[in-house]
Amino acid sequence: MRGIFASCALSALLLAAAWADHHHHPPGSEHSHEGELSCHKLSSPNADFAFALYKHLSTNAAAGKNVFFSPLGISTALSMLSTGASGETHRQLFSSLGYSAHTQAQVNEAYEHLFHMMGHSQESQILDVGNGVAVRSGFSPLEKFLKDVKHYYSADVFNVDFTKPAEAAAQINTFIASKTQDKIKEMVKDLDAEMAMVLINYVYFRGQWEKPFDGNQTHKADFNVDETTKVQVDMMKRNGRYQFYQDADNHTTVVMLPYKGNTSMMIVLPDEGKMKEVEGYINKDYIKHWHDSLFRSSVDLFLPKFSISAEAALDSPLKEMGITDAFANNADFSGMSDEIKLKVSKVSHQAVLSVDETGTEAAAVTTIEVMPMSMPETIKLDRPFMVFILEHSTRSIVFMGKISNPAAE
Ligand SMILES: *[C@@H]1O[C@H](CO)[C@@H](O)[C@H](O)[C@H]1NC(C)=O
Ligand SMILES: *[C@@H]1O[C@H](CO)[C@@H](O)[C@H](O)[C@H]1NC(C)=O
Ligand SMILES: *[C@@H]1O[C@H](CO)[C@@H](O)[C@H](O)[C@H]1NC(C)=O
Repeated sequence: MRGIFASCALSALLLAAAWADHHHHPPGSEHSHEGELSCHKLSSPNADFAFALYKHLSTNAAAGKNVFFSPLGISTALSMLSTGASGETHRQLFSSLGYSAHTQAQVNEAYEHLFHMMGHSQESQILDVGNGVAVRSGFSPLEKFLKDVKHYYSADVFNVDFTKPAEAAAQINTFIASKTQDKIKEMVKDLDAEMAMVLINYVYFRGQWEKPFDGNQTHKADFNVDETTKVQVDMMKRNGRYQFYQDADNHTTVVMLPYKGNTSMMIVLPDEGKMKEVEGYINKDYIKHWHDSLFRSSVDLFLPKFSISAEAALDSPLKEMGITDAFANNADFSGMSDEIKLKVSKVSHQAVLSVDETGTEAAAVTTIEVMPMSMPETIKLDRPFMVFILEHSTRSIVFMGKISNPAAE
């Protein structure tokens, strides 16, 4: 495989159905048609949500485990879910997402705008964010819910027969595989015959480095997973001009690796032994501070080649973050159905990331850089580091994570 590729599918806000004994009112028909909210309005709450979720995932992850997920994908899926939620269930979703100051209609419009902005993919970069709703055959969600998820979240809605769980899973997996260029094939496993619908979110990203690495410089090197564990990696090397910042006060070195297009990988390398400390304080303000402090510098960059696949069960982190009613028997998804009482039974997430030199064709396009006559800075990613894949036109954190062991699958 060439270039960098990352994808993830958030399958499965799996909604188990139980027959309702009473009717609900549909959620506030807040179809405001005031001016379109720019997707940038989501950028700050989405970043806060990303770091809050990161802290829960990282705390729960075993030592030496990679953490990798798509904050944008998860925010999108939860926003789509909230279009069908009412009352306290809706309030908790919006409060955890940081959207309390906005109405559902404003959030919907912001996502519509965001998808529109991200739709400009080109040969060198594919960034595709989308959603699907697999609906139980014979169960019809409310027309407004279907209309909203199709219109604002570009969701594909299709019927599956959950009474045949294996076939239903196969059908959903085929959908996810087709949307992630076959990178995620077995996302959904144990479906329950009682499920009413599965909400699916996928993020597929494949970029090419603006400045590819020369494969001839890639060499075997040690990577220090922790004080006592070393693994061998293929270490890529490149000397070039990069946006770079060394924050001595905060024990961190930051380097920005642009892809062709509007996307970059920001690498945050804590000083030796400082990962825990950095993870403790990192938030969007540090990212902004580092982003604003970057300056072009001559850099000897050593980056391991790696490919990771990280799966996360999000139920407990989301509950810890205050989204509890959605999972409970008092869940209020009356905006999806007024006949059936629904609750979320499971939220799982998988993200895949591959980083390599970016192939021969791209490497053939040589960029000549004027190097200053000064000693280059060195940044050697030979111990755990954090990565952020940032989309600049929408100011989104598409993926983020911690690479503790590049040799782990
Ligand atoms: C890598 O090495 C091979 C064999 O020595 C050479 O033919 C090729 O041009 C080199 N590639 C680059 C990008 O320098
Ligand atoms: C970057 O984003 C801007 C604003 O959305 C868009 O006009 C432009 O085409 C994008 N550039 C690339 C290379 O995708
Ligand atoms: C350390 O982080 C704080 C908070 O973001 C910032 O105010 C300070 O300038 C940072 N130190 C350096 C040297 O950048």
